[in-house]
Amino acid sequence: MHIYSKVDRHISDLFGLEDPVLLQVEQSIREHGLPEHSVSAVQGQFLALLVQLSRARQIIEIGTLGGYSTIWLARALGEDGKLISIEIDPVAAELARDNIRTAQLDHKVTILTGDAVEVLQRMSHADQQEAAKGSAPGNDLPSLRGPVDLFFMDADKPNYIRYFNWAIENSRSGSLILADNVVREGKLLDENSTDPKVIGVRAYCEMLSRDERVSSSILQQVGEKAYDGLAISMVK
Ligand code: SAH
Ligand code: DHB
Ligand code: MG
Repeated sequence: MHIYSKVDRHISDLFGLEDPVLLQVEQSIREHGLPEHSVSAVQGQFLALLVQLSRARQIIEIGTLGGYSTIWLARALGEDGKLISIEIDPVAAELARDNIRTAQLDHKVTILTGDAVEVLQRMSHADQQEAAKGSAPGNDLPSLRGPVDLFFMDADKPNYIRYFNWAIENSRSGSLILADNVVREGKLLDENSTDPKVIGVRAYCEMLSRDERVSSSILQQVGEKAYDGLAISMVK
């Protein structure tokens, strides 16, 4: 076992991070033949810490898969907090709903099935205000309760900039915008890459380096999962 995996396991054991619910979520993902792309327990713990640090009460997640990261984020939310997670794959979305019920978090979590690009467009503050005035078709989506405090994107990398722009428009000063998997085992460095995921995260990191509306950093992450990284931005 690689030293990074051993240390990750040690941290997870030390803090008692995994419980039967989380283990069952990972098992359910394998049983459904879905990709094993959930964050690790230690990464989940870090996301939970960011929820607490930002005093988040409203979270949006893009890319639910089986709900593993969703559970970490939602557990860190206060009882009055709300999390909306968007998942394009109906099989994953249904599995995640089951897992969220098992975790007894359904009062805080809503999982929406659909393409996040389209769902977010219909959910933005401005659109909903228009809909309320009757000048645009109403929609079936949950309303935002004020600005989004924490936004976690963990889905289609080519749309990260698009999601970021939406997040900025629906945030407040101090909101966090997080983007997973931006290092990709160092492929971030490959300027000649033809992989749309690499091209997507390269463009995203470059955009962050220039966008003066946010303070950002990119955290490299090692452990049980492949070497990768999390981009962290705070709205100024
Ligand atoms: N956040 C999860 C892992 C997500 S894996 C966790 O850590 O537990 C990425 C997920 O994004 C996949 O389930 C995939 O189906 C979903 N996805 C990909 N493109 C999407 C899109 N355009 N809109 C919503 N979800 C998308
Ligand atoms: C990929 C996506 C993820 O969300 C992840 O954590 C790891 C890999 C991928 O699409 O390759
Ligand atoms: Mg990820």
